[in-house]
Amino acid sequence: MDQAAPFILSNGTKIMYPEGNEKMQKNAEFLASYIKDLTGKSLAVQAGTDGKGIILQLGGNAKNPEGYQLKVTSDQVVISGPTEAGVFYGIQTLRKSIPVAQGVDIALPAVEINDYPRFSYRGAHLDVSRHFFPVDSVKRFIDMLALHNMNRFHWHLTDDQGWRIEIKKYPKLTTVGGYRKKTIVGYMWDNPTEWDTKRYGGFYTQEDIKEVVAYAKKRFVEIIPEIEMPGHSVAALTAYPEYSCTGGPFEVEGRWGVFNDIYCTKESTFTFMQDILDEVVELFPSSYIHLGGDEASRIRWKNCVHCQERMKQEHLTKEAELQTYFINRIENYLNTKGKKIIGWDEILEGGILQRATVMSWRGEKGGIHAAKAGYDVIMSPNIYMYFNCLQSKVNEKKIGNPNRVITLEKVYNYHPVPEVLSADEAKHIKGVQANLWTEYMSALDEMEYMLYPRVAALSEVAWSKKENKDYGRFCTRLESIRRHYDVLGVNYCKKISNE
Ligand code: ACM
Ligand code: ZN
Repeated sequence: MDQAAPFILSNGTKIMYPEGNEKMQKNAEFLASYIKDLTGKSLAVQAGTDGKGIILQLGGNAKNPEGYQLKVTSDQVVISGPTEAGVFYGIQTLRKSIPVAQGVDIALPAVEINDYPRFSYRGAHLDVSRHFFPVDSVKRFIDMLALHNMNRFHWHLTDDQGWRIEIKKYPKLTTVGGYRKKTIVGYMWDNPTEWDTKRYGGFYTQEDIKEVVAYAKKRFVEIIPEIEMPGHSVAALTAYPEYSCTGGPFEVEGRWGVFNDIYCTKESTFTFMQDILDEVVELFPSSYIHLGGDEASRIRWKNCVHCQERMKQEHLTKEAELQTYFINRIENYLNTKGKKIIGWDEILEGGILQRATVMSWRGEKGGIHAAKAGYDVIMSPNIYMYFNCLQSKVNEKKIGNPNRVITLEKVYNYHPVPEVLSADEAKHIKGVQANLWTEYMSALDEMEYMLYPRVAALSEVAWSKKENKDYGRFCTRLESIRRHYDVLGVNYCKKISNE
């Protein structure tokens, strides 16, 4: 047998999986659907692991739990990995190697690929508060994460402009906090300010959330919900002003920015937050809950008898320490539920936390500080990883934040482990994440325009070793990725610019 002969993918090719393994069966069905989209061929999916065809199996030599081997010979395409997730990434690699061609047999060159991810946390974030994206759009976002071997979806569910997750104990969070009376038109700094006075909002029911979580799980994407505290909480406080320092009243914000009214540190607020989190932890199997913690103005705390009394009781001298007290209390509570917390880098400003993971967004310095202090870190610096910033100076669509340009090449060449870290400190860098803040985008096509193809570059930042990266070769691969985007009808940015 000529080892170098290609495998011929034809209508008669079967996809096989180990009998009785539902996840592997699902993997086989995913592969069949990808091949159908790309080539029009409807391949049979069947249990069993020998014979000619495409064979999915567990085992092999990959040490990384998400690693895989893809081996193509003239008789078989074998994808193996230590876990179903590893096999799923092998499937994505095979998928990306299949040309878009309807009605012809396809030759897959003989090859052996042994591959595994550099980082265990490969994330993308979506803000659904500033603009609401319905379940179908969120599922599509998850499908695209799968295509790009990403495994974490950070779902930014609450903010000043809308509370988007149903909480049964506090229904006004969504009936009141889920809707705003008006929305600023154009950029926040435009003068004069123009308003769209249409009521705007929406939220996910708990059934919606369960559906999305299950959808993501099948695609090996873990969803990390973010419930912002103590700041970015005006929507919640509009519904329940009793948990603020002043008592309100408030309005769900229609502007973007940082607002003074945040949760008060009185005792009843902690009961409120814990009740909410009780429902959240039931909905999300993720080991992490994101508590936000960014951009909390502490002005109200300075002038609040409850907050000042709390500081005295706890022997705190600065309001920043009160923020740490807040996060620590909630962290302790979530630890009792078997959950760990993530917070934006401000969470370390007021002193020591227990086991928090720090998401570094104000550049890398918060992450460097955290890694040196022994905390786990996700790198998400706004100068590289904020996909709401323009991809090019030429923004024909007028969406996104025009104050910063983050080109595809800039994303691609980002290295999440800062050189100032020692080898031991560097072990705390668990991964990387891109964020999509949606002040200046409100529809699926706009969201996709900002995400792609930058997510393809992010994927290599998260997956590939630094020494294996090469922007020129990436651009060649991008040709094929764009064809996949076309098949999927993704509205990606077609302008690749270096400025
Ligand atoms: C952030 O961009 N405020 C995390
Ligand atoms: Zn207060």
